[in-house]
Amino acid sequence: MTSTLREPVTLQGRIRTELQKLHDAHLHISPRVLEAPQRARTRILGRDVVNLASNNYLGFADHPFLKERAAQYLQRWGAGAGAVRTIAGTLQIHEDFETQLAAFKHTGSALVLQSGFTTNQGVLGTLLQEGDLVVSDELNHASIIDGLRLAKATKKVYRHKDLTDLRRVLDENPTDGLIMVVTDGVFSMDGDIAPLADIVALAREYGAVTYVDDAHGSGVLGEQGRGTVHHFGLQDAPDVLQIGTLSKAWGVVGGYAAGPADLRDLLINRARPFLFSTGHPPAVVGALSAAIDLVQQEGGFMERLWDNTRFFKAELHRLGFDTFGSETPITPVIFGEAETAFEASRRLLERGVFAVGLGFPTVPKGLARIRNIVTAEHTQDDLERALNAYEAVGREMGVIGG
Ligand SMILES: Cc1ncc(COP(=O)(O)O)c(C=O)c1O
Repeated sequence: MTSTLREPVTLQGRIRTELQKLHDAHLHISPRVLEAPQRARTRILGRDVVNLASNNYLGFADHPFLKERAAQYLQRWGAGAGAVRTIAGTLQIHEDFETQLAAFKHTGSALVLQSGFTTNQGVLGTLLQEGDLVVSDELNHASIIDGLRLAKATKKVYRHKDLTDLRRVLDENPTDGLIMVVTDGVFSMDGDIAPLADIVALAREYGAVTYVDDAHGSGVLGEQGRGTVHHFGLQDAPDVLQIGTLSKAWGVVGGYAAGPADLRDLLINRARPFLFSTGHPPAVVGALSAAIDLVQQEGGFMERLWDNTRFFKAELHRLGFDTFGSETPITPVIFGEAETAFEASRRLLERGVFAVGLGFPTVPKGLARIRNIVTAEHTQDDLERALNAYEAVGREMGVIGG
């Protein structure tokens, strides 16, 4: 018998092939490097730029109040947690912060995990079992999609914010198991808000619970930034799960699940990222506790965020740009083809504005865009500088008239 000899796959070969695929599909990314802190104005490629690319909604990432508390916790509690939380890595400050977060969210308890990404993996992976049905908005974040890959439930997708389609999916997939509808609170690419009151009402007709990933609603919507669930007055609903991140408006890193004490207890015992990955270092906990204090002690952050958002959107519309129905500080400007969006992003950077172009598969084909995120920290001057650059680039490229 003759054996067919083939070249064994080498590590080098694998890496080269995969990179080539990315280049061929124009999907290869090289992150821009910030040469100054994460602020409304920063430095890139040696140039001062207005930063419209971050998720730093409230301007907390480099806020002195957070940095001071982080430094205090670092000095008092050390550099690291030293173990996973369930073994020896739960410090008093971890528990205190979770109590503070639960009080802020008006929930019985809260559990903090390493990131928003791992929170979706941990919570979805824990709650969903074989025989359950989970129905997910088609534009939900990648971490939800990956979290659902870990769940053994039947998984279905409904068209973006389409309640008729959601009803169809629920009708077509009856089960005696747990039924869960999963949605982002605010959608990260379009900046639109989930119609949560309607989703929850529909879910209830089918005895389903609603899981809200509020990564982009926390710190942005609801009283003092309590999030999308509060924005819709649903914080006391036992069938609405509040999941979110501490990495965006709150300026640091982490994810949370806020709900009744027994949810926390179950997640501590079952959520794999919680069980098998080290807890946050003290400086992170300190900065986060300061962020929640700051938004309650000193008003004005959300007001500035929303004033800036309204001004920026209105001016973009006046110039003739399409912001795709965005309702929040996430403000996409649609360019159509990916190459056009990437070229516009390059030209904006040359004019001192940092805003990132996004194409397929991050957003649908033909809807490539630049995603702008306005923050509370931007001044009128920053926004006017950005708008002037947009106007010039839009005209040069024939995206707007004049
Ligand atoms: C909806 C949504 N969920 C989760 C995440 C992940 O959050 P984190 O950056 O804390 O891992 C993001 C961030 O991109 C997000 O937009």
